[in-house]
Amino acid sequence: MSDKTYPPSAELAASAHINAEKYDEMYAASIADPDAFWDEQGKRLDWIKPYTKVKNTSFEPGNIDIKWYEDGTLNVAANCIDRHLETRGDQTAIIFEPDDPAEESQYITYKELHKSVCRMANILEDLGVRKGDRVVLYLPMIPEAAYAMLACARIGAIHSIVFAGFSPDALAARVNGSDAKVIITADYAPRGGRKTPLKSNADEALLHCKDSVKCLVVKRTGGQTTWVDGRDFDYNELALEADEYSKPAEMNAEDPLFILYTSGSTGQPKGVVHCTGGYLVYASMTQEIVFDYKEGDIFWCTADVGWVTGHSYIVYGPLANGATTIMFEGVPTYPDAGRFWAVCEKHKVNQFYTAPTAIRALMGQGTEWVEKYDLSDLRILGSVGEPINPEAWNWYNDVVGKGKCPIVDTWWQTETGGHMMTPLPGAHALKPGSAMKPFFGVKTVVLDPHTGEEIEGNGVEGVLCIADSWPSQMRTVWGDHERFEKTYFSDYKGYYFAGDGCRRDEDGDYWITGRVDDVINVSGHRMGTAEVESALVAHAKVAEAAVVGYPHDIKGQGIYCYVTLMNDVEPTEELRKELRTWVRTEIGPIAAPDLIQWSPGLPKTRSGKIMRRILRKIAEDDFGALGDTSTLADPSVVDDLIENRMNRQ
Ligand code: PRX
Repeated sequence: MSDKTYPPSAELAASAHINAEKYDEMYAASIADPDAFWDEQGKRLDWIKPYTKVKNTSFEPGNIDIKWYEDGTLNVAANCIDRHLETRGDQTAIIFEPDDPAEESQYITYKELHKSVCRMANILEDLGVRKGDRVVLYLPMIPEAAYAMLACARIGAIHSIVFAGFSPDALAARVNGSDAKVIITADYAPRGGRKTPLKSNADEALLHCKDSVKCLVVKRTGGQTTWVDGRDFDYNELALEADEYSKPAEMNAEDPLFILYTSGSTGQPKGVVHCTGGYLVYASMTQEIVFDYKEGDIFWCTADVGWVTGHSYIVYGPLANGATTIMFEGVPTYPDAGRFWAVCEKHKVNQFYTAPTAIRALMGQGTEWVEKYDLSDLRILGSVGEPINPEAWNWYNDVVGKGKCPIVDTWWQTETGGHMMTPLPGAHALKPGSAMKPFFGVKTVVLDPHTGEEIEGNGVEGVLCIADSWPSQMRTVWGDHERFEKTYFSDYKGYYFAGDGCRRDEDGDYWITGRVDDVINVSGHRMGTAEVESALVAHAKVAEAAVVGYPHDIKGQGIYCYVTLMNDVEPTEELRKELRTWVRTEIGPIAAPDLIQWSPGLPKTRSGKIMRRILRKIAEDDFGALGDTSTLADPSVVDDLIENRMNRQ
């Protein structure tokens, strides 16, 4: 935390969509009369049948029910493409920047986007996909990923994107979990100079799926793949024949738009469901307001469409606003640590949105990589996914933004669909590391974790909850509404519980203090420790495992695994390697353990519950603060773990 604040320049306060007075006035109005406020915002979209009702939501225990614009109909693809054709048909909608800088960038106009999306929509229909069906996308960051998302939206199918870094097992689980009809994949995914064999991963996944699941394959590298006739279809070939027009389906505002699986405290990832109307209103509004997006700006969110950030701020938000959005296939450090800035210079980027983990990684490489490039078009910088530490914030502000680009530190989640708390560039004096203020319509409260009572006033700390619904709130967990209620509404009745802790400082500004559940944040990606544990115990030589996060310089948090082996198994370096590979194969490289400590015993209460608090402290080397260990069944386990911690690697 730092005391220094960074007020907006007078120029920005005057030119931005929202200044301080306007924020106060609009925020108050959004809370006092959400119906009127969101009625007005609903006009951002083109509706086929206009809504007459705006908000109909209940956080009441036993009756969690969230509906926005419920009697309106619209089509998301038509809002992101068709309605722009007349005014900006020849404007670039998507700039594709390939992994290899020697490969040419592609500039896809709204007109071209329209044709490609229609072709993909027709191909999907030919494959038997109908309104309400699920389609899984397992793709690199290529324009076809956006075509596929929008094609699903166009015909009313529900997409579920699986990040290309996930394993075949994880892919199969998601295909089966949503009973998808089609997987759309590519031959290979180039990333950082390497190529992930997506099609062969999909082949492996398909062995565990219903025989009827079809596979549509996009050619990316032209590399060799195996082919199953009748199951596999060549997108590039079919696109040559496909019709260039497809009629957008009339969708109800509450029809699901997509499912996105995310990790929670329990073993199984859950399918977060977002719907058509409210989601798009909110994605569009936040993209415009939070980034102070103006007509003609070049907008770059470096996320992958496999995560919610990519959904809302690469595809849906920017395209709904008729923006030019960049899709970047690569990584920040390939071919060198100047890649981000080279892309910013090349495309004259105005808004740049990335994660603290990337900033930290680049910070270590020195300022010369940034200074080589002309970043004078940058106006707004954004941060997302994890808390940004002051050192990273200052570097971002001074070296990248040259002290003239406000940093919007946006706190939100897969479940929230769009930004929930963030400073607004023309309105708020920034504090490095603070998410500052709730967005319009977001009723943030701090609760006492023990009593569940609201803590009023400033200078207070507790758990972060939201007291009322907002339009892009997730509607349910796919196929399990009870789990939705249990996960988000049962700990603190009447509130949406985000799973984060927070502090409201003396000025009433918010600081996220991190997850209060067993979810860790690795390089801005959410990982349930239970998922890694179940992968570990699925290995024949592992008897038991407990996984916690620990501070990691670049990743924010690293994955620390305490592993108890089966009785007669020797802990060897080879086995450690084997377990790492095992977890990568079970879940994906993002879940690979950073440290494994052999642990003949784990600290458990007499009722057999593992005391993670103690494990977290040992992982952090903070032995002075272990707290009460007297309730442990065998307190000597703790001494053993401390003594043997050097066997972690
Ligand atoms: O703990 C918070 C952290 O990331 C979690 C949400 O993860 P996910 O659903 O994967 O979405 C990430 C992108 C929206 C939150 O519960 N988090 C996200 N943004 C911030 C953050 N923590 C601190 N500051 C942020 N700006």
